Amino acid sequence: MLKIGFIGAGTVATALAVGLSSKGYHVVAVSSRSQTSARKLAQLVNGCQAFSSNQDVADTAELVFIATPDDAIASVAAQVQWHSGHSVVHCSGADSTDILLSARKSGARVGAFHPLQTFASFRQAMENIPGTTFALEAEEPLLGMLKDMATDLGGRWIELGAGGKVIYHAAAVFACNYLVTLVKLATDLWQTFAIPPEQATQALLPLIRGTINNIDTIGIPKCLTGPIARGDAGTIKKHLSALQKVAPDLVATYQELGLKTIPIALKKGRIDQKQASQLKALLKQPIT
Ligand SMILES: NC(=O)c1ccc[n+]([C@@H]2O[C@H](COP(=O)([O-])OP(=O)(O)OC[C@H]3O[C@@H](n4cnc5c(N)ncnc54)[C@H](OP(=O)(O)O)[C@@H]3O)[C@@H](O)[C@H]2O)c1
Repeated sequence: MLKIGFIGAGTVATALAVGLSSKGYHVVAVSSRSQTSARKLAQLVNGCQAFSSNQDVADTAELVFIATPDDAIASVAAQVQWHSGHSVVHCSGADSTDILLSARKSGARVGAFHPLQTFASFRQAMENIPGTTFALEAEEPLLGMLKDMATDLGGRWIELGAGGKVIYHAAAVFACNYLVTLVKLATDLWQTFAIPPEQATQALLPLIRGTINNIDTIGIPKCLTGPIARGDAGTIKKHLSALQKVAPDLVATYQELGLKTIPIALKKGRIDQKQASQLKALLKQPIT
């Protein structure tokens, strides 16, 4: 059976190692910057040994995941001696397999295996992996292996080459990281009527979950609700003037997002071009 190793023992490595091992894959070796991290991962996976050097992982495993921070992948790959029996795979969302050039030059197969998921902690990652889409880049036969792994982890896969990778990752930042930012902005606005942040976030969460459910079940653009979807220019005007008083630094963000919402509302069909132009004018008004 194929022997799998991990260089880097952080959240993604731990989730993938435990997940793959639970599906019958043979995860045999791990190394990390610190021995503590490597040992911690090894303890969670039957038959996995923690090594102090990345080279030991390459000497033990045939398929090696480099699951370090993105900026370390190329240099980690360059420090290891690879051969034609190796498959070397990174998990970065923004980088293509080009950063594994040193491994490719040594005859190794190279690949990318990016879970389109947020891994904030190991436990939560294990819960979230099923249903996740994995962006894969590799040539056969490695590509087939990576497809099987994604499927065995309960996920789906797409093939994505160097040309699309950076924009694919920027899209993920919009959908994931900036959602966190938006919720934080909304939570902060609740401070103006003196509700503590935790309570504000808890109150906003059912709204966020409802929105996500609607995106899933009804789809965009039909799931869009609110003043822009209804063409309520008066409400938008009130928002802008209130924000101007209590959070002037948010006016530009509110306007920018509003302008991006108008085409969705038009597509939903509850507003016409005239209402859209009226809303646009309001949302383009210079901040005084
Ligand atoms: N987090 C996410 O939501 C997410 C989602 C999809 C893909 N990814 C990708 O997955 C990869 C790993 O991300 P992560 O979130 O798991 O990072 P992480 O939790 O910060 O873990 C990175 C690990 O790499 C180790 N490391 C750093 N430099 C090293 C080196 N020179 N040699 C060996 N090990 C080294 C660290 O070591 P120590 O612990 O020993 O200090 C740490 O265990 C990245 O490419 C990231 O883009 C992340």
